Amino acid sequence: MKEQTKVENSTMTGLETMNSAITIFGGSGDLTYRKLLPAMYNLHVLGQLDNNFKIIGLGRRNYTTEDYIEITREWMKDYSRKKYEEQTFNEFAKRIIYFKIDISLESEYSRLQDFYIENNIKKHIYYYAVAPSMFLEITNGLKKYCSDNDAKVIIEKPFGENLENATELNSKLAEFFGQDEIYHIDHYLGKEMIQNILSVRLNNAIFKGIWNKDFIDSVQITAAESVGVETRAGYYDKSGAMKDMVQNHLLQVLSIVAMEEPKGKTMEKEQLALLKSLKKVENVDDNLVMGQYVGYLDEPNIDSQSKTETYVAMKIEIDNERWQGVPFFIRTGKKLATRESQIIVKFKSKNNAPANLLIIKIQPSEGIFLKFNAKKPGTDNDIQEVSMDFCQSCILENRMNTPEAYERLLRACFIGDRILFSKWDQIVASWNYIDNLLNKYKESSSKLYTYEQGSMGPKEANRLTDWILDLE
Ligand code: BG6
Repeated sequence: MKEQTKVENSTMTGLETMNSAITIFGGSGDLTYRKLLPAMYNLHVLGQLDNNFKIIGLGRRNYTTEDYIEITREWMKDYSRKKYEEQTFNEFAKRIIYFKIDISLESEYSRLQDFYIENNIKKHIYYYAVAPSMFLEITNGLKKYCSDNDAKVIIEKPFGENLENATELNSKLAEFFGQDEIYHIDHYLGKEMIQNILSVRLNNAIFKGIWNKDFIDSVQITAAESVGVETRAGYYDKSGAMKDMVQNHLLQVLSIVAMEEPKGKTMEKEQLALLKSLKKVENVDDNLVMGQYVGYLDEPNIDSQSKTETYVAMKIEIDNERWQGVPFFIRTGKKLATRESQIIVKFKSKNNAPANLLIIKIQPSEGIFLKFNAKKPGTDNDIQEVSMDFCQSCILENRMNTPEAYERLLRACFIGDRILFSKWDQIVASWNYIDNLLNKYKESSSKLYTYEQGSMGPKEANRLTDWILDLE
């Protein structure tokens, strides 16, 4: 199907008049307003969108395109990285079209295809910005009525609800799109400091040779959020922190921190090897603490009996030569005391002095912090801990040059660069690990602990390790 279209297109004259478009399923959702449309506004400002590129927001609401543009305008004022300017926005808005549709009805896709034809849209990116439970319905609708289109698809995480369901979904998608046209988006991979991990690890003599069990005591990866479930109850209550954050974002981060140096082999292969070497958890109590914030059950649209976790703390061990015996701790939660994501590498202590720490700060501020030991000035030979703190995002020029994660990733997809997207075999390896863990959790007598809003999670998480977070 795609081959045909490509041949056709290449023989067309005036190719530049052919429209390409991104169609967003979930066009009036939070993700679209907060992240996708601002990212595309920024790309527009930077001149990185084709002239004939259209943005089609799909939704059930009774909006006209004009209504949709006005709503988008307001969000843009708060959420775009590039300053909102009326004239620029008005230019950008010419790309936007709202299309009212019930995406759960297969017959509606026939109307959608007619609309594409009327608008001479020949190249497509479909963005599934909806709950995973909708992915199949959308794919079936597209397959039935839009199968001649030249198309790529971007899919949000979590991909599926478990390995079995993800596998079914993948085969359905692959039948229609082909593996190479499926882009699994994980916006953590588009974050500046996640991209920086390998540079720090590999381009410094002070870290490169000691990135292993002989010198590293443990690693902590924290993604703390101060917000709660907000308007996403329907999705979140079925998912929980493990599937929302750990199965995708945090295991991806872990795989970059811990993988072997990609020499010749691509990074994705090393990440995959690492994910496959995660040791299956046998004893849940020693490795996992899950919690729910007080007040979660009263949130709108949350089941009042819900056992969904809004917090996860866990210990992961890696079964390979480099990391034998080194624990990796992961922690994430909503309604915590702070919004802060960081990776802390704790080195082994020498001569009983405090352990050196390397902290890669992911957000809200971006930077690198190193804590080490030096002699305390004076006549005694006492040791004091000193630090060096490189705040990357404190420098205006750095902030200006740092694209938002979604901006980076959307552009990568537009130009066909797949490096920054998760790969299907990585998703399989992650699900394998998480499915086993959640099954063990269900079988065990482990409790779902509660924690106060504004705290750092249930105190039981301290049985896994001493968490290091707020360094002055
Ligand atoms: C999303 C999750 O993928 O990541 C959300 O679905 C979470 O629940 C968000 O809030 C966190 O992203 P960030 O970029 O704010 O760390």
